[in-house]
Amino acid sequence: MGTKIRIIRTGGYILLAAIVCIAAFGFIRGELQIFRPTAMANPQQSGTSEPVTDIPESAEAVLSEGAHGEYAKELANYIGFPYFQKDKIENYINYKSENKEYSYQTIVTYVNIGLDKSYYTDIKEITDPQSISTLVNKYWMIPNHYVPDGLEKISGTGYLLRHEARLAFENMRNDAKELGLSIFPVSSYRSYEYQKSIYDKRAAEKGQSHVDRTSARPGYSEHQLGLAVDVNGVENRLANTKTYTWYSQNAHKYGFIIRYPAGKEHITGYSYEPWHLRYLGEGLAAEVYKSGLTYDEYYIRFLQPGQAAYRVQ
Ligand code: DAL
Ligand code: ZN
Repeated sequence: MGTKIRIIRTGGYILLAAIVCIAAFGFIRGELQIFRPTAMANPQQSGTSEPVTDIPESAEAVLSEGAHGEYAKELANYIGFPYFQKDKIENYINYKSENKEYSYQTIVTYVNIGLDKSYYTDIKEITDPQSISTLVNKYWMIPNHYVPDGLEKISGTGYLLRHEARLAFENMRNDAKELGLSIFPVSSYRSYEYQKSIYDKRAAEKGQSHVDRTSARPGYSEHQLGLAVDVNGVENRLANTKTYTWYSQNAHKYGFIIRYPAGKEHITGYSYEPWHLRYLGEGLAAEVYKSGLTYDEYYIRFLQPGQAAYRVQ
């Protein structure tokens, strides 16, 4: 009988010890959790995390290549973003040292856009100019003399847009009209040659650094994609009109965004253009609108993820 009790008691101790061990392991794992951000379809959910048990090889490589002490700690600040790019580590660190007020997320985003270098340096050529979501800016150029497929006249005008953008524009214009508002194009598709003539003329009048703030160099204008339209006159006072108030709050429902917003000149490279609408399609335009980001930032964060998508917390 005594032996039986001893066996049961010993078994109880072993069980208790096992429970304590499991609980302790769970606690430690929770503290040192390694997370991978979830899919980035919805920007509102960015930063949510799910646990991963495996450490991707690329992460191990980043952390092992001389990543010790302070350097490893510094790297941990950048590695977590899904758009982190291993080959840009030195750029992130240098850019942060020059812009201490920027968050790590801003640093990674801006460096990936290319903003740690002057505009029109380190230029890459777009491979898919016919894609509706194509990003064009001062680092991404359209292949020379590209002409989009499917250009059509906006009804009642001579202005050209690509089919989807043309339909969306006409819908927006019609709905605005029902509300007593008038939206009309003043510029839309522009060929490489036409953009060159505009840019060269303005540069001759005002100088290159001035014109670079308002006009894209040939090969760098969204107008060449057939997906951009300037409306109601190219003037800042447009921003004080009822029409602007309406389309600034509703254009995304038709697939358009205001591509060069106020206060974002340091990102887009262009001064505020309340008249310049870029077609992205309804779904994407709504996401960009909700995010409050410029398209340059949105593209980097959600459409062009980096090589290593994980976070060490
Ligand atoms: N004004 C815009 C930036 C363009 O020239 O495309
Ligand atoms: Zn424009």
